[in-house]
Amino acid sequence: MFKNSSHSRRRFLYVGLSGLAGATAVAVGKNIKPIYYSHVFDKPKRDFRVTGQNPLKKRAAAKGLIYGAACGRDLLASDKNLEACIIRECGVLTPENELKWQFLRPRPNVFDFSRADWMAKFARTHNMLFQGHTLVWHSQLPDWFKEVVNRQNAEKFLVEHITTVTKHYAGQIHSWDVVNEAIEPKDRLKAGLRQSPWLKFLGPDYIELAYRVTAQTDPKAMLVYNENDLEHDTPEHEAKRTAVLKLLERLKSRGTPIHALGIQSHLLGHSSLNAKKLRNFLSNVTSFGLKILITELDVIDQKLPSDPIVRDRMIAGMYEDYLSIVLDERAVIAVLTWGLSDKHSWLPMFLPRSDGLPVRPLPFDSNFKPKLAWNAIARAFDQAPKR
Ligand code: XIL
Repeated sequence: MFKNSSHSRRRFLYVGLSGLAGATAVAVGKNIKPIYYSHVFDKPKRDFRVTGQNPLKKRAAAKGLIYGAACGRDLLASDKNLEACIIRECGVLTPENELKWQFLRPRPNVFDFSRADWMAKFARTHNMLFQGHTLVWHSQLPDWFKEVVNRQNAEKFLVEHITTVTKHYAGQIHSWDVVNEAIEPKDRLKAGLRQSPWLKFLGPDYIELAYRVTAQTDPKAMLVYNENDLEHDTPEHEAKRTAVLKLLERLKSRGTPIHALGIQSHLLGHSSLNAKKLRNFLSNVTSFGLKILITELDVIDQKLPSDPIVRDRMIAGMYEDYLSIVLDERAVIAVLTWGLSDKHSWLPMFLPRSDGLPVRPLPFDSNFKPKLAWNAIARAFDQAPKR
């Protein structure tokens, strides 16, 4: 976890001596003591103890922070345990899919708000803020999009979409992820922009346009740029951090109405963090006058050992290490996990484990019992400086 520490050197040595192939993707056999992972090595006495019984939303609120989670309508409407858990723990709710084009626009000239409205009402009824995810994205576009949208009409579609949706929810949305994942340096385009249909049809200014249109129809909402793969100490994440800073700088210098960066934070359980680089990045973001939200936090355990006890400690370690770094930055105002219980996560579908075991990325287990990850988040909130 902590790069260049003597612990990680010891870990490396141990892994080398034990003849294992690497520190990350090693399945732990039943009789092997799982001591070659950083959390166990770095902090063998780490106990993830918390005081009191307060739910996460209360611990966050005590520090001027907001905690919440993403969730889908169908699950929330059918799983009473999930419903109770969300109501108890969350101060903000994000519809996991219901505000995406795919769900809102069954046909080019038809908007179906029924599912997202249900969620907005749920949030209102239970005194939660409502988060808007997302207006402009390259993914989860409806099937008709490819046939219908082109260079000539793309601007009309984009403006009409944003205007209609933000008007429908004006005044009800705490923060809009106006543009999601516009950067992908691997696509090797100018300024690290992603090869998305919006870029192809409208050029780079589609991003600025989206913020201006949103600000016009929902002037009260916080307007967020949301991005993934910004968290770890890898060249890919470093390249993305650099490109995102350039994008934010450009948007701000042109007077674009943008208020915050959303750092998705789908953390890789097997990858390291570099506190110094991460802190620098956050501080550079704040230098543009922006707030920061942790928008989609979970810990991907695809390459972690099979043993659930070992795995849960490592996942909790990642939660606490990451949150203790980012929450030191007072511009970070909210933390949302992408789901709440391991019973419902996007990861089994997108990043399953090769041993076929269930993934354990979230604060509650599949029976809605709090895991060490819950303790880790609670501890990070309890130790965070007050906003
Ligand atoms: C995911 C949802 O969780 C899945 O249900 C859906 O099938 C695909 O999208 N980054 C994002 C989210 O911004 O919208 C994605 O959500 C997860 C990655």
